[in-house]
Parts: sequence; structure tokens; C-alpha cells
Amino acid sequence: MIEEYRIFKDESKLSPEYIPKRIPHREKELNELKRYFKTVLQDPKKSSQQVFIVGAVGSGKTLISKKFLQYVAEQYSFHDIRLKTFYTNCRVNKVFGSILNSILFTIGQTFPTRGFSLDEIVQYFISKLNEEKVHVIAVFDEFDALISHEGIEPLYIITRIREMGTENQILSSIIVSKSFSYLDKADPSILSSIQKNIIKLESYNESQLKDILYDRVIIAFEEDTVENETIELISKLASKYGDARYAIELLQLSGRIAEFRRERKVRPEHVREARLQLPPQIRKEELNYLDIHEKIILLALTKLLKEQLDSYVTLKILEQEYENMCKKFGKEALKHTQFWLKIKNLSQKEIISSTVTGAEPKGRTTLISLLNVPAEQLYNEIKERLEL
Ligand SMILES: Nc1ncnc2c1ncn2[C@@H]1O[C@H](COP(=O)(O)OP(=O)(O)O)[C@@H](O)[C@H]1O
Ligand SMILES: [Mg+2]
Repeated sequence: MIEEYRIFKDESKLSPEYIPKRIPHREKELNELKRYFKTVLQDPKKSSQQVFIVGAVGSGKTLISKKFLQYVAEQYSFHDIRLKTFYTNCRVNKVFGSILNSILFTIGQTFPTRGFSLDEIVQYFISKLNEEKVHVIAVFDEFDALISHEGIEPLYIITRIREMGTENQILSSIIVSKSFSYLDKADPSILSSIQKNIIKLESYNESQLKDILYDRVIIAFEEDTVENETIELISKLASKYGDARYAIELLQLSGRIAEFRRERKVRPEHVREARLQLPPQIRKEELNYLDIHEKIILLALTKLLKEQLDSYVTLKILEQEYENMCKKFGKEALKHTQFWLKIKNLSQKEIISSTVTGAEPKGRTTLISLLNVPAEQLYNEIKERLEL
């Protein structure tokens, strides 16, 4: 009897880890990546490459990087030099020394992480890769997380390893991030020396999202369980953000709701319900990209809002609470102007809203509130991210 209500054929096909065979609207970019690495794949001993991939959340950055590594692993094997692939998410692995160690680990090597300077680790890394005659193509996903943790140095090192003219080329890199804002920290003269091959992924539009979703429906759902109107509504909602992850999450949640209600089809009504449960405003990924001060501001705001009835706080009170919290985290609080810029930035991202009330300049007050997200929920999310 339960069979009757089956909605999903294979729900795992909707998980963020799943790598689909087809990648509609990203074939061109994947080919571009292959083209950049053509000479490396022909002669990994002599040539190496460095490519930057940028694009908004859910634009397929992680997907095309992993697809590319799959392609490398499937296609190539060499005799006089080994070509290896490596992937890391720098948000998970924020320490550059330990990332280098993980790369070494994939070729059966390691070094003690304690008691060595980064320079020494890099030297060891270079000599081992040379000795083992290995060329590693490494993806550094969410690279900005590494830079906000360690400063710009890792970018210099990655670049320098290529240019050092060792016996063999040992490292190619694919540097993935949402934007280039981390380059603000770099010295312009060094920046200009970094070769910039950039692949920019545009956010998906409605019809592109539709194509992506139809592909997933076929492999994840039982036949004829998802109405066309359902896909249309999801694509429309997600196109506001151009975010394929949000689209797929909505699809999955809508399916679960239909299943829970023991219905045979996933209908637009389920999407509307799913949408309420999955507010795009706090897409978790977005929160990871906030800097430490923005996180502390949000923690201060949500803490205040949790504890009171009003749905807003004044800018002044927020700033006081923010300063208190900075002390707790051992951070120096930003000066008022900088603080104000962070507030502006957070409202631009549609996480908070700020409104000015009162007419005369003297009576003016700025009120800060949260957009569409329960304070409690956001508080917990932020807190988790601050306990580094
Ligand atoms: N062109 C595409 N075809 C199929 N699935 C896609 C495509 N682009 C993105 N996705 C899917 O959308 C989700 C988000 O993609 P991801 O690569 O993680 O985005 P990003 O790393 O840019 O945030 C993943 O589940 C991914 O498989
Ligand atoms: Mg990603």
C-alpha cells in the first residue's frame, strides 16, 4: 500500500554532494576549464596552470570544479610523472599548512604540522612533490575563507610554487570564490604579477533553472509525480537569486511535503509551503561569507530581538551591544563610520533592514530589524559560526 504514495525514486540525487552527469548551461564553462588545462594534461612535467572561478552562491562553481577533476582522473595517466587531483573546501579546512599536508597525504606523504614555520612546510612540500614526480591539480573551493583566516599569503605561495622553476611542475590550482573581494588585502604590485585566468559563472535565469530542475526530476522522482507547474513555480522563485541550490532544495522539500501528505503529485501548493519553511534570506552559505564584524553585529541584533517584544532596535543600542560582544570575542570594535558601513552592507544583502524615523535631524532615529527570519534561528546559526 505504501508503494502507492511513493514520490521519490532516489532522493540522494537531490543532495548537494551528488554530481549529475549532465550540467545544462555549464558545458561551455567546463570546456573553458578544460581548455585552460590542455597543455598541463599534455605535459604535466613542463606546464602548470592557475585558474580562478567566481560566481554567486548556487551558480555551479563547486559542481564544475568537481566535474573537471573527474574528467582529469578518468582521462589521464602518465608514466614519467603522475598527475593527481585534489579538492578542498577552505571553509572546512582553513589552515593552509594543513591543506598542504592533505595534498601530501594523497601521495602517501605527510609532515608533522607542529614546530615548523609555513616556509619550512612549503619547502618540504615542494621537495616531496618533486621527489615523487607528482603534479597535483588542486581545487581550493571557497578560497576567501582561507584568506580571511590566514591573510593573503597562501595566494602568494600557490602562485610562487608555479613560478619557482623547480625541476618539474608540481602544482596547478583552481581557485574558487564568490567574488574577488579577498584581493583587497593584496599588494597591487604582487596582484598584477598573478596571472588571472578567470571563469565567471553568471547567476541562472528562470529558464535555465527549469532545465536543471527537469533533469533532476527525471532521476530523483517517480514518473509523473511532479507537475510542470511545480517546476515552473520553483524556477520563478529561485530565479530571483539565480541560485540552483535553492531551486533544488525547494524541489526536494516540496516533494517531502507531498509525500508527508500522502499525495500522488508534487503541486505548486507544496512549493508555497516549502518556501515558507526554507527562507532564502538566510541561505546558510551566505552567512559563511560574512566577516567577523558582520557576524558579531548579527549576533548582537538577534540577541536583543530575542529578548524583547519590539521587532526592532535602535542603531545606538545595537552599537552598544555590538561593542560589548566584541569585548567578549576579544576583538576591537569598529569605529562608528565603519560600523555604519557594515549595517549598510547587511541591509544590501537583505539580511536586515534599516529605516530612519523622525523628521528633524535631531529627532532622527535609525531602527534596525530582521527581514523574515526568526531571531532565534538566526542567532543559533551565527553563534555556531562564531565558535571557531
Ligand atoms: N548547470 C547545472 N546543472 C545541474 N545541476 C547544477 C547546475 N548548476 C548547479 N547545480 C546544482 O546546484 C547546486 C549548487 O551548485 P554548486 O556547484 O554547489 O554552487 P556553488 O558552488 O556555486 O555555490 C548543486 O546541487 C549542483 O549540483
Ligand atoms: Mg560551492
